[in-house]
Amino acid sequence: MKLLVTGGAGFIGSAVVRLAVARGFHVVNLDALTYAACLDNVASVADSPLYAFEQADIRDRAALDRVFANHQPDAVMHLAAESHVDRSIDGPGDFIETNINGTYNMLEAARAYWVARGRPESFRFHHISTDEVFGSLGPEGMFTEETPYDPRSPYSASKAASDHLVRAWHETYGLPTLVTNCSNNYGPYHFPEKLIPVVILNALAGKAIPVYGKGENIRDWLYV
Ligand SMILES: NC(=O)c1ccc[n+]([C@@H]2O[C@H](COP(=O)([O-])OP(=O)(O)OC[C@H]3O[C@@H](n4cnc5c(N)ncnc54)[C@H](O)[C@@H]3O)[C@@H](O)[C@H]2O)c1
Repeated sequence: MKLLVTGGAGFIGSAVVRLAVARGFHVVNLDALTYAACLDNVASVADSPLYAFEQADIRDRAALDRVFANHQPDAVMHLAAESHVDRSIDGPGDFIETNINGTYNMLEAARAYWVARGRPESFRFHHISTDEVFGSLGPEGMFTEETPYDPRSPYSASKAASDHLVRAWHETYGLPTLVTNCSNNYGPYHFPEKLIPVVILNALAGKAIPVYGKGENIRDWLYV
């Protein structure tokens, strides 16, 4: 089994890469190495014969076609994205280009590759999305697959758009896709500007701990 993982130098993608290699999968890590990437996150597998790295941008369709042709993956796990909500408010353009246009390029590159291989049923295109496409929860309740989309930030709107593209590529072209919408992740290699690392680093340094709004917001957390 060979996995093509996009965004594998980021926080969650690198955890996927480390786990997949540890379980004996071949892994191709495709990442543009933006500010959010850190190759130290995958240093523990860098010398493994199971691991390959491709610096490529999902906005570059020709580069994606080359990676598919060279590596012939059995499945794709698409995590590459602009992922920081605050940055999406300061500058939404990159979120539109990477999360929407980039996912479109990934879908088209995957579809061309899948068709050329005779549409294998076992192929999967797994799109990693976020529960933020469903809006926000109060103290009670939970989201389900039936919850209507209700994105509230440029980040979540761009992820919602990408989810719709993935669903459409399945319905229209039959591409075997999966969409998952997990909640916030935390754990090793978390980017230092995210909430839990900020709180820990400030506490260690004896600095004030920032509170968002009135401190009443509720988040669910998954260990990465
Ligand atoms: N972190 C969370 O709590 C969380 C929760 C739910 C869903 N998600 C989703 O999971 C995925 C991974 O999140 P993360 O926190 O690991 O993100 P991250 O910001 O830590 O990593 C993203 C990675 O994608 C790469 N990347 C960005 N733009 C690219 C481009 N144009 N081409 C190729 N690579 C590019 C970056 O270099 C980086 O390595 C994202 O799709 C995100 O929307 C994250």
